[in-house]
Formats: sequence, C-alpha cells, structure tokens
Amino acid sequence: MSRRKPRDASARAPGDLDMLEAEAELARLAAEIARHDALYHQKDAPEISDANYDALKRRNDAIEKRFPLLVRPDSPSRRVGAAPAAGFAKIRHDVPMLSLDNAFAAGDVREFIERIRRFLALGADEPLAFSAEPKIDGLSMSLRYEDGAFVRGATRGDGEEGEDVTANLRTLADIPRRLAGKGWPARLEIRGEVYIGRDDFARLNAERREAGEPPFANPRNAAAGSVRQLDPEVTARRPLRFFGYAWGAVSERDWATHGAFLDLLRGWGVPTNPATRRCEGEADLLAFYEDIQARRPKLGYDIDGVVYKLDRIDWQERLGFVSRSPRWAIAHKFPAEQARTRLLGIGIQVGRTGALTPVAELEPVTVGGVVVSRATLHNEDEIARKDLRVGDMVVVQRAGDVIPQVIAHVPGERPAGAAPFAFPDACPACGARAPRPDGEAVRRCTGGLTCPAQATERLRHFVSRGAFDIEGLGDRHIEAFRADGLLRGPGDVFRLRAHEAALAAREGWGDKSVERLLAAIEARRRIPLDRFVFALGIRQVGEATAKLLARHYGTVEAWRDAMVRAADAPEGEAAQELGTIDQVGPAMVADIRAFFAEPHNRDTVADLLREVEVEPAQRPRASGSPIAGKTVVFTGTLETMTRQEAKARAEALGANVAGSVSKRTDYVVVGADAGSKATKARELGVATLTEAEWAALAGG
Ligand code: IVH
Repeated sequence: MSRRKPRDASARAPGDLDMLEAEAELARLAAEIARHDALYHQKDAPEISDANYDALKRRNDAIEKRFPLLVRPDSPSRRVGAAPAAGFAKIRHDVPMLSLDNAFAAGDVREFIERIRRFLALGADEPLAFSAEPKIDGLSMSLRYEDGAFVRGATRGDGEEGEDVTANLRTLADIPRRLAGKGWPARLEIRGEVYIGRDDFARLNAERREAGEPPFANPRNAAAGSVRQLDPEVTARRPLRFFGYAWGAVSERDWATHGAFLDLLRGWGVPTNPATRRCEGEADLLAFYEDIQARRPKLGYDIDGVVYKLDRIDWQERLGFVSRSPRWAIAHKFPAEQARTRLLGIGIQVGRTGALTPVAELEPVTVGGVVVSRATLHNEDEIARKDLRVGDMVVVQRAGDVIPQVIAHVPGERPAGAAPFAFPDACPACGARAPRPDGEAVRRCTGGLTCPAQATERLRHFVSRGAFDIEGLGDRHIEAFRADGLLRGPGDVFRLRAHEAALAAREGWGDKSVERLLAAIEARRRIPLDRFVFALGIRQVGEATAKLLARHYGTVEAWRDAMVRAADAPEGEAAQELGTIDQVGPAMVADIRAFFAEPHNRDTVADLLREVEVEPAQRPRASGSPIAGKTVVFTGTLETMTRQEAKARAEALGANVAGSVSKRTDYVVVGADAGSKATKARELGVATLTEAEWAALAGG
C-alpha cells in the first residue's frame, strides 16, 4: 500500500479526519503537548495559556475516541495521573532492578569470593567461574519482549518503579523490534545499559554548541537526557547505543549459566559487550581488571569499573540478595578521579536531624567529566585533621555518583594569613545552640522543628523518591509554602488542596500547575508501610531498615503502637522485641525510641495517619509456606547449609529471622552444640526444631 501524504489536518474537526490524517494528527498532538509539558514543568516557561493547553488535550481525546486503534503508547491521554514533572507513565518492575555492591581493592574481591564459598559451603579447591564484563557508565533499562516482539521499555527509576520510555527506545537501532532466531521465552525481560559513545558524544556536543544549545556535561548525562525526551523524534536523532547483560522476569529459563545467556542474547540480535570474558578465581579476575583498565581509553565508551558475576545460576539463586544487591555479583570500581582547585569558602548546611555539615565552596573544576563547585567536608574533626583553610589549593576527588570530597590541601600553596577554620557553635539557620555531644563528631542544632532548615529538610525528605515520592513539590515550593504558613509539617502536604485558590494566586502559578501538583499528592494518599516508615526521617532508619521494620510489624498500627511502647519502657517487651530484629542494633533502637519519645513526633505520625492510608507490608512471594510470618531463631551449627543460607532461605519464604529468643519467637532451630538460646527457648516454652524438622517444614 502506498502511503499518501496526509493533508494538513491540524485545522479540521476530529469528525472530518480519515484514518491516515488522524494518525498524523495524533502524532503531532503528542509531540506538541509533550513540548508544552516540558516548557511548563521543566523550564517553567509556558508558551500557551491553560485554556489553549486544555483545548489541545480535548482535541487529542476526541480523535482517540473516534480511532481507538490509533492511541499511541506515548499518548498524552495515557499520561494523565503520571508524575507531573516527568511526563512519563510509571511502571512497576515485576522483578526489582537492583544495584551492585562495590569492590575497590583486590582484598574486596577476595572477600567477595570467600563470602560466596562460605555461604555455599564450597571447598577451597572447588572451581568458581565468573562472567567478567566492563561496567558501562550509562543508564540501566528493562526491555520487555512478548513472543519475540519488543512491547515495553522502562528506566530503572528507584529500582521498584521506573518510567515508561517505550516510544523512545523503539528509535534505537541496537534494540531489536523483534528478536532474531528462535528459542526465546514467550515473556522475556532483557536488562542492559543505554549509553552514548565518546566520539558520538563529542559530535553531539559540537552540534549543540553550533545551535546555541548548552552542551552536556558527559556522555552519561547526554544519554539520560536523550532517553527522557518527551518527543521520541528527538531521541531518534541522538546516537544512543545498548548492551544487554541480564534478565528480569522470564516465562521460562533454559540457560544454566550467565555466559550461556549472553550467547543466547547475541543470537537473538541483542548486542552484548565483546570485552566480556569467562574468568576462574581471583587472579583471573584481577588480570581482567588490569587489562580493561589499560584498554579503557580505547574502548570508545565510558566505563567506571568492571562487574563480576558468578556464572552458575543455580548458585546465584541460592546466594540471593542482601538488601538491594545480589551476593553473587560485584562491581570492581576504578580509582576515583582527582583534580586540584581553590577552596573559596566553607559553608554550613543543616540537615533534617539538625546535623551541621560543612560544605566546601570551590572554584569550579572538571573532575571525571563533571564540573564540581561544592564538596562535602564531613565534619569539624575532618577539617582540622586535613588542616583545611579558606584560600588553600585543595585536591578534590569524585568516584561515580559519590558526592565529591576534598582529600587534602596542597602544602606550599597556602596564601599568607590563611587562618584555621572556626566551626560555629550556633545553628546558622535559626541561631539555636549547636553543641557537640560527648563522643560524637557532629554538632547538632537544638532548635528542633522551630529551626526552618530542619523543617524544610524533613519535608524534602518526606516527599523524596524513596519516601512519598511527590514529584513537582520541589525545594522552591516547599520553602515558599512554608513561608506562607501552608506547610508546617508532613500532614499539611495532604491538606494543600484546601488552599487551592491561594496556591493558584501565587505568582508564576496557574490553575493547571496547581491541579497537577494536587493530583500528584492525591496519587500518594495510599502508601506502602516501608515507604511511610522511611518518610518519617528517623535517624539511621534508611530504606533497607524501613523494609525490615515493615516486614516485621506488618501494619502501621502494630508498628506505631510497638514503637510508642518501646519509647515509654526501655526495658519493656516492645523495646526488646525491636532489638531482636535481625540487623537492628542497639544504636538504631535508641534512635527509634528517641524519635517516639518526642511528643511532636507522635503528633506528626497521628496527624499523617488521619490523611493517608498505609498499605500493610507484603509478605514475600511464598506466603503459602507454613513458616511465612513466623519468627524463627537459628542456633548452633547446621549440617546441610550455612547459617547464612538458612537465614536467607527462611526470609525468602516469608519468615522473620531474629537474633535472640523471646516470647514472640515461633520456632528455634537447634543445630549441633547449641547453647543458651536453646535453653531459653525451653524456659519460655517456645517450640524447638531439629535441622531435619525445620527442613521438612520449610519444604526441604
Ligand atoms: S548487572 C543485579 N552488568 O551498574 C545486577 N550492571 O551499580 C544487575 N551496569 O544498575 C546489574 N554495566 O546500571 C550489570 N555489565 C553490567 C553493567 C551494569 C553497567 C550498571 C547498571 C546497574 C549498576 C549497578
């Protein structure tokens, strides 16, 4: 069929369009609306009125209603309710996209290998094969294929939820629309890295300079900016490449090693990194590392290290994950890049817990492809130890995504009269005393929530990605709303809708932006328990700990009541139970209790619970298991597997593994030479199991 060129359809009523014209018109509207979204949200520079924007959306809807088969994957109608600043629909990954633990020295690599041997109880002479690959400095993506056809592509996002960038990824020549060959699983998620090569990057930036556009800082930023374009035609013009290196959800898997999977990928037409090698043992891995480091300048694309993955998948599965990284893989990073620059000043930042952190203000300098003008100085003692003085020439270091650091001053390049830095003993934000508790390195502001910096930082944390994830409520808005008295605490976020008119009346705000912000807030009125716990910003309670707590207590009511009881009675049962949770140590217990000891924190939680609905924690997959939801303690030496593997398996089946026995323990699994824990179990009347009994209960 020959395609005639559609006449200009933009001026005609939806009812007058034929199919070809409608298709062209929907493409135009998608691009046009996306452009206005970007102008509005990312550049804060709208070109059309809210009413005209609405008219474009209504026209799009009317055409889609007449031609439902033509609805585009990137249609503006599909983006309704999506995160406002992004403009992409959110996608929940069926299998989370995890990150990798880092190794920096040869000793870390040895420890990685030994940990695997210990966990799997392998003898020292059992051969261990790895797939060793360059670690591309790009963006990880998940590509879904159904019956061999590319149907969906998503960014990593926070690992649990990414953005739907299907339309953009379809423009990459490296990503086959249909898999070649045969033998692919009916449902297959291919994971890998999108990147831009060095030569292509240089060309792209030259073009941008020529066109008067700002150049990208480095290839990674250029790739990220290109994938997250609202207009796929822009992405299509960018020199994006792809390497596959892992899989996510699959309907069936008939490869037994990572190396075999990479061979299959290549056969299906998906590029894999040609520098990948099979390595056996530590010496082989370290030789690979040296070799890649030497070839790094000639590779043609940026890498920041190498990745070692245990080749056997049955072993990978037994090893499982710790928090967010697999035990069977590690990233061996190249040394950080360094540069020299002048220390122009030392500023003090106040964090959400009141910690005063010194920040170096630097003469801008390029380190590892990124311009650095600020760097952390950690604390008072670090400044003294390095004897850093304003005016010094300093060495700055950057490693991957890590915040830049000031390593040292350059002796002999200090200006005359430079004085040692006097760390303030009052909070620069509110003037309250900022003492340094005995034995601690950090000064803390005593202003509590009356300190504007703490309140702002807490709110920032509250709406941040791993917490309530409210896009569009940026720093500027938080500060402005706080100044207007609209935002005092977290609960106020959910009451902003009562101030819709006041918000819309603010300078630079229209009905549309208010509507979008309020929609983004409403979308988060239901929240998983772990995110809720993390959002509160309790000291030491990061995302991983929040997950542990959520899993242990199940519901927000159970958790909150137990924490209040723990705060009220340090020796009571609730406090003890908190301490038995695996990986929750005494310092963490103290911080959680300190949080709930403050009446204003209890009020904040109560206030929030009137506004939001907290979803109970989901038990992991195998909820049908008889040990799901039970609290298990292991003691003594196990025969058939290491204690670590037993624990990991119990957790994978939904059990809570505790470190000590209490009345709430369901089972104590007693290995050889067990001591006081077995005795305590008998005293408390807790059921004890032999290893064989436990194995039978846990499904062998
Ligand atoms: S494997 C569960 N292989 O590094 C492990 N990652 O620090 C999944 N990356 O998010 C990752 N090259 O973006 C793997 N050959 C490679 C990689 C690689 C680059 C990135 C990826 C990942 C990050 C983890």
